[in-house]
Amino acid sequence: MDNRVYIFDTTLRDGEQVPGCQLNTVEKIQVAKALEALGVDVIEAGFPISSPGDFNSVIEISKAVTWPTICALTRAVEKDIDVAAEALKFAKHKRIHTGIGTSDSHIKFKFNSNRDEIIERAVRAVKYARRYVDDVEFYAEDAGRTDNDYLARVVEAVIKAGATVVNIPDTTGYCLPQEYGAKIKYLVDHVDGIENAIISTHCHNDLGMATANTMAGVLNGARQTEVTINGIGERAGNTSLEEVVMILKCHKGIGIDTNINTKHIYPLSRMVSSLMNMPVQPNKAIVGRNAFAHSSGIHQDGVIKNVSTYEIIDPHDVGIDDNSIVLTARSGRAALRHRLEELGVKIEGEKLDATYEQFLKLADKKKEINDDDLLMLVGADVAKTNHVKIDFMQVTSGVGVQPMASIGLDIAGEKFTAAATGNGPVDAAINALKNIIHRTMILKELTIQSISKGSDDTCKVHVQVENDGHVYYGFAANTDIVCATVEAYVDCINRFHAVHSSK
Ligand code: KIV
Ligand code: ZN
Repeated sequence: MDNRVYIFDTTLRDGEQVPGCQLNTVEKIQVAKALEALGVDVIEAGFPISSPGDFNSVIEISKAVTWPTICALTRAVEKDIDVAAEALKFAKHKRIHTGIGTSDSHIKFKFNSNRDEIIERAVRAVKYARRYVDDVEFYAEDAGRTDNDYLARVVEAVIKAGATVVNIPDTTGYCLPQEYGAKIKYLVDHVDGIENAIISTHCHNDLGMATANTMAGVLNGARQTEVTINGIGERAGNTSLEEVVMILKCHKGIGIDTNINTKHIYPLSRMVSSLMNMPVQPNKAIVGRNAFAHSSGIHQDGVIKNVSTYEIIDPHDVGIDDNSIVLTARSGRAALRHRLEELGVKIEGEKLDATYEQFLKLADKKKEINDDDLLMLVGADVAKTNHVKIDFMQVTSGVGVQPMASIGLDIAGEKFTAAATGNGPVDAAINALKNIIHRTMILKELTIQSISKGSDDTCKVHVQVENDGHVYYGFAANTDIVCATVEAYVDCINRFHAVHSSK
């Protein structure tokens, strides 16, 4: 059996489906090019029929990327396949990813159909996609809960119809590792013609078993794994790329390689986190802030004596560079551009000027600017024109005083001011804001995260605000924690306005 596993990255499709993580086309191209430099084999660039934005992104990524196969998702519906084929027209290597639910629950409740009819629809979709491209991947949605006998019938039929890859998703993250591994083995042992297709894993993390299930699949014969950077994805996420790749690298005994240049893992993890405004949990394997931090005395003592006592991965292997250049207010535009290029971000002209201006403002408030700060700056849309802008804000808080805030807003060019008290500076500032914008907005969630360390650090704030039954996601970063929170709140209001004004 082949000793290489293909890495299929779905950060820009399954990952991007997460509410609040949407990227614009320029940002998607930036991530796609970084995925190409990382060495992934397949980039799932989007679901073209789902929106004009997705359609356009698949076109632009196809133009921008050379080596990886570009894949577009469809349902087992002819119109979806027509649109995917059109979106892929510029791709040098292209794949259509079509499929249908195969579990009894999907057959009955989603399709009101029966098993034989589902096989017919699957076969028809694969044959139809093969009219456009030579490389067709079929997904059996909810394969994790599909009876193995029936799944084998589906897989055999789609391979006969021309599928080159068969994807066995554990869509709900339900399977146990031995169960998922046995499923892949069952297909290897029982499907006639299985040698004509690659078996792919696609595991979700609802019970925290996505990586374990993926590895069980690989150990039983799967030779493609569908993964995302930082494990982002629907609900609890997908299998994370960095975990599977580093397991295969650390466990040489398994004898299976990938094409990944692991030194690109950490910078890309930061880029995705920053562009998608999705913090990485500090204890996340491989890329979390604490993944290589030895804090207990016993561990520190061991690591000082010999690093192998407690470290199974050299941080440099995943691109964590302790000596990375730190920029300051005295750094020039060229140094900024050079460091950004090392982080996989190429900017020139007006965008570089605008970012440099933001950089100098931040460097005035913070002595040293690190890589995370830089990625945060390039992720922020500095040219954004917002409907609601904060003109000024002043807060008073402390021990023995009533927290108070006054705020000035510019709403489409008109000026408003208001003041309010609250149980803390953030509460007071938001109450003042609500005295100007009279809506029944409810703050549902507020996350504050520091970028690195030190009291002069930049903090990133994510908020979710409910308005009229819809939840909006807002983000801001500032060295002032209260300003960052109110700016993130205003970001939500602007998104709410953008949705309503486009209707
Ligand atoms: O989780 C899933 O089943 C999917 C398919 C659409 C491949 O994402
Ligand atoms: Zn999925």
